[in-house]
Parts: sequence; structure tokens; C-alpha cells
Amino acid sequence: MNAAIRAVAKVGAGRGIEVHGVEGGYDGLIAGRIRPLTVEIGGSLHPERSIDLALGQGGTILGSSRSEAFCTGEGRAAAAEMLGSFDGIVVIGGDGTLSGAHALAIERGVRVIGVPASIDNDVGCTSLSIGVDTALNTIVEACSRIADTARSHRRAFVVEVMGRRSGYLAMSRAVTVGADAVVIPEQARSMEEVVASVDRVIRQSFELDDGKRQSLIMLAEGAGVPATELVRRLNEGLEDLPGVEARAIVLGHLQRGGSPSYLDRMIGGRLGLMALAALGQGQSDEMVAWRPSLDGGIPTEDSRVMRYPLERVIEESAALVDGSSEVVQRRLKMMEAVEGVLAL
Ligand code: F6P
Repeated sequence: MNAAIRAVAKVGAGRGIEVHGVEGGYDGLIAGRIRPLTVEIGGSLHPERSIDLALGQGGTILGSSRSEAFCTGEGRAAAAEMLGSFDGIVVIGGDGTLSGAHALAIERGVRVIGVPASIDNDVGCTSLSIGVDTALNTIVEACSRIADTARSHRRAFVVEVMGRRSGYLAMSRAVTVGADAVVIPEQARSMEEVVASVDRVIRQSFELDDGKRQSLIMLAEGAGVPATELVRRLNEGLEDLPGVEARAIVLGHLQRGGSPSYLDRMIGGRLGLMALAALGQGQSDEMVAWRPSLDGGIPTEDSRVMRYPLERVIEESAALVDGSSEVVQRRLKMMEAVEGVLAL
């Protein structure tokens, strides 16, 4: 997210636009915690220097919040009032943040452009959100370390990755970490079905005695089966497989931090730039999206970035979660196609 903040501040300064940052997300906005990100030196605007250092930092230098106050009409009215003297606002965040941005635009007439940021990659209309690539790289790194132990000790590991409502992280990394199975919320399987299918995969991995010494199961947090519980049940059933043991690893918030990858910095910078450009062109109530695979986006000066009305983004995000989106259907088909093959 810092790459996007930096792009907005730096390009803003270059174009003579004063840029301020809101600290602490919507809560901070309601409280008026707004600070300059550009400074005037010798008659011209310059970015505040701390934003350069921030480029290599994960998270956001401005801070964030899950604001309950902003969910109320009064909260949004107070937030809009704080923005009174500004021309518009770039809002960076996931589904909740973007829905809030849409509400600010339609209820209060605030000029707002959204930038998608969520490691879960569950924002509609964009192929990637900021943070996803860094999280994926962290998962790959963690899994290759885990696999070393798995191979050495002939173990099955259930690796739980983030994704409250979306299996994107688990699914998209499965092949690259050599996972034998993937369990994601979109499959909508019961605990019993998950236990049975993972048990089958672990047996397939070890029973043949063909030299395979590891089994890696990628589990998305939102699949309704906590890794520790899954492993407890698996170990009960695996007692007849001598020397084979299952263990659980929850990667948790490790996935949300760390120095951002090249791709995240690049996407963040380019989305930030196009968000500022959209505001400058008088657009509002839209989100800038990275290489969308959907029709109907509005082109920007960057061939990889398109704009979409926030209303459509919110609808698409809901369809990603309830499974009715074409994107989810495509992913599930892909998972079905590789299901038996992963564990070979
Ligand atoms: O950003 C979404 C997400 O990463 C989810 O996958 C996860 O459930 C959640 O955030 C964790 O949030 P918190 O930091 O509030 O525990």
C-alpha cells in the first residue's frame, strides 16, 4: 500500500497538487487525523521524504482501522465533513473499504477513487489486489521450509493460509509449492468430506512406498475446518499407517507483512498514479483495477489499468464470495481438473 501512497504523493507534488494522508483509515478520517504528504520548498511542492523509506515497508505508513463508526450514517457524515476542503480522496483497501468509499460518493457527493488492496484477492473487477503477490511469495518460502522437514521425517503437513472468504492464496500457490491437495471455502465441503478427502490424499502419498516422503495440504482459513482440528482427526484415522504423522502450521499474519515484492510495488505505484489521474480528470465513485479479465472497464493512460464503477466492483466482490462469479466457477473447474493429479 505504501507504493500507492508514495505514487499519489510524489506525482501529486510533481503536478503541483497538495496531497495529504489520512492516518488510521476511516476512524482517523472521522477524527480529522490528516497530515501533509507534500511540502512546499522554495515555491514548489515536494513529497514528504518519509514516503521514500516507506516503499520497502509492508503494511501502510498511514495506519488502518476496521471502523465501526464509519458504518453509521453519522460517522460517514463526520468523515465527509473532514474532507470538505479537499478536491477528492484516494481510498486504498479491500471490499469493506471500497464499499465505504462508494457510500461516501453517493451519500455525500465526495469525489473518491478506490485502489484495491487485500491479500485475499477477493475484490471484484481486478485480477490482483495490492499485497497478494508478496503474500504468495511468503507462502512459497514458508512451504519450501516446511517441505524440508516433511521429507526428512515422512510427514504430512496441513498448511493454513489466510483467506476468510476466498481460497485464492491457497489455490494459486498449490502447484508452485508442490501441494498434494487444496481445501478452499469455495468447495463448500463439510468437515467430514474434508477429512475423508485429505485422508485419501495422504494415504495416496505414502502407501505406495515409491520413495515419496512428504504430503503437503494447502488449507484456506475460511474453509470452515481449522488446521489443528483437521490434523487431530487425520491422525486418529492414520494410526494404521506406520511412521506417518500429520502436523498443522498456521501461517497467519506472517503473510501480511514483509518487504513488498517487485510486482506489489509496481502494481501499487501504477494504480496510485492512475487513481490520482482519474481524480484529476473529474472521475469519482470508481476503482482502478489491475489487468482486469472482465469487459466493460474504462481505459486509463496505463494499458494495464482500467477503471470500474465502484457499484460494479462491490457486486463482483459479493459474487466472488457467494460463488456465483464466473471467476470462482473457472477456479473451481481448474481445481477439479488437477485434484487427483496433485498428489501423484
Ligand atoms: O485482509 C483479510 C485477512 O487477511 C483475512 O484473510 C484474515 O482473516 C483477516 O484479514 C485477519 O484480520 P485480523 O488482522 O483482523 O485478524
